[in-house]
Amino acid sequence: MLSDKMQVAMNKQINAELHSAYIYLAMAAYFEAENLSGFGNWMRIQAQEELGHAMRFFDFINERLGRVILEPIEAVPAEWDSPLAVFEAAYKHEQKISGLIHDLVNLALEEKDHSTNSFLQWFVDEQVEEEASADAVVQQLRLVGDSGYGLFVLDRELGQRQLGAEAEGE
Ligand code: FEO
Repeated sequence: MLSDKMQVAMNKQINAELHSAYIYLAMAAYFEAENLSGFGNWMRIQAQEELGHAMRFFDFINERLGRVILEPIEAVPAEWDSPLAVFEAAYKHEQKISGLIHDLVNLALEEKDHSTNSFLQWFVDEQVEEEASADAVVQQLRLVGDSGYGLFVLDRELGQRQLGAEAEGE
């Protein structure tokens, strides 16, 4: 059974993951409006991953006989200055999410809740990936600079991204 404090914190994380999905969907919409459908694809996949993350928390709370409470999702931006600005924002966002996951681990340890701590370790590892994959695109965009051809090539590459089985919660 989850403690009240842990349950509130885990529910907040469902909201944070859904908010992440909303942010990435807004980024997908921005790219699609800019005719960068490969970048848009990358963001759509990212949004689906975030839904998968939210559902992991959802299922875990239920398994621990807790109660899922869904709160309103904060509004997200619609415009960015450039593809680089979008990915810099994505990278910064993932750093923030890593901080939230670490706070949850600290709380689980405080509460001596080893099951929740164990569950959270998947997210600790996942956040390393999440930060690295956003940062990789930031670095590529910096290399590309103002090159339209570079952007075109990168758009094609990001269009190849597919949803991993793990992200679907399998
Ligand atoms: Fe659910 Fe991108 O962290």
